[in-house]
Amino acid sequence: MNNFTPEFYKNIPEQELFDRITKIKKTMGDSLLILGHHYQRDEVIQFADKSGDSFALAKDAADATAKSIVFCGVHFMAETADVITNDNQNVYIPDPTAGCFLADCANIDQVEKVWKEIKKSTKDTIIPLTYINSSVDLKSFTGKHGGIVCTSSNAQKAMKWAMNRGEKLFFFPDQHLGRNSAVKMGIPLEKIIMWDYEKPNGGHSKETINSSKLILWNGYCDVHQEFDAKIIDNLRIKYPEIKIIAHAECSFEVCQKSDYIGSTKEIISRIQNSPVGSIWGVGTEKHLVNRLKNRFTDKKILFIQTYEPECKTMAQITPAHLLFQLENISNNNHINRIIVDKEKSDDALKAINRMLKL
Ligand code: 13P
Ligand code: SF4
Repeated sequence: MNNFTPEFYKNIPEQELFDRITKIKKTMGDSLLILGHHYQRDEVIQFADKSGDSFALAKDAADATAKSIVFCGVHFMAETADVITNDNQNVYIPDPTAGCFLADCANIDQVEKVWKEIKKSTKDTIIPLTYINSSVDLKSFTGKHGGIVCTSSNAQKAMKWAMNRGEKLFFFPDQHLGRNSAVKMGIPLEKIIMWDYEKPNGGHSKETINSSKLILWNGYCDVHQEFDAKIIDNLRIKYPEIKIIAHAECSFEVCQKSDYIGSTKEIISRIQNSPVGSIWGVGTEKHLVNRLKNRFTDKKILFIQTYEPECKTMAQITPAHLLFQLENISNNNHINRIIVDKEKSDDALKAINRMLKL
């Protein structure tokens, strides 16, 4: 627990925390909407009015009528929700220090520098695509330059949208989602380059840049990077009937060896819809995988790793943070409110709306 929750909340017994959250939710009624990402702790997700992947939660925020929206997730998710909701709605995150390693892999100064370099080295029209796991600055940049936001559930559709509008795509910050989605769409690896922003021309010749179709940012998720293709080989030897499903943020090698790749929502629905007795090797975050294990006890669910990779920032939010947040909102103290600057928000919304219309 960090200092965003007063010390004394730490000492409240768990059952009392749960009772007070339940009571305050009842009192606030329809004026409150709690959104929770699938990687949240069980003790927190049980209080979410809606849980989902990044796309579903963005849509839930867009459709919300509640005055107060409490986002149990990481910072970029709450920021996106503030962009999508109207001026009379307030968005809060119970721990504003809950960031995303992947989103922090690219900042606006770096992206603008690379954009200028790419523009200088080719006459082709370039369409920027930003993964939703990015700061509002990058979404705003993308909106301003005719690009689109995507999530792991619609990256291929977003790439198709972008390919209808330009000759080249510039995808940031997740190299893996970019590469995995492009290869699935039939773009060959030779047409995909990764830009090294510390090197002139990203470390490429003009010819290579000109013949490329997709330019990737060198970002990655430190949690999904931990899944290992060698473990897939071992699992397949031990359980020949196993099906492997990996989040699209996993490495190219892991995704190539998987039967399915997709978003957290797709992982849940494939396992849910599989027959009793199915065996699954899963490449995603531990809170979700352990929840699936507890829910589907008639199936065998294993990690594509010998340990359980955890998103530590998702886990920062605890019931104590949630209670502290809710009690403050009901006392008219707007702590941990996310407010995105209007100009940035307007441009970011263009890129988000393009995705929502896909
Ligand atoms: P989903 O949109 O698939 O839930 O992914 C979000 C995320 O941060 C995965 O690491
Ligand atoms: Fe970000 Fe990775 Fe955590 Fe997802 S799992 S929120 S991409 S750090």
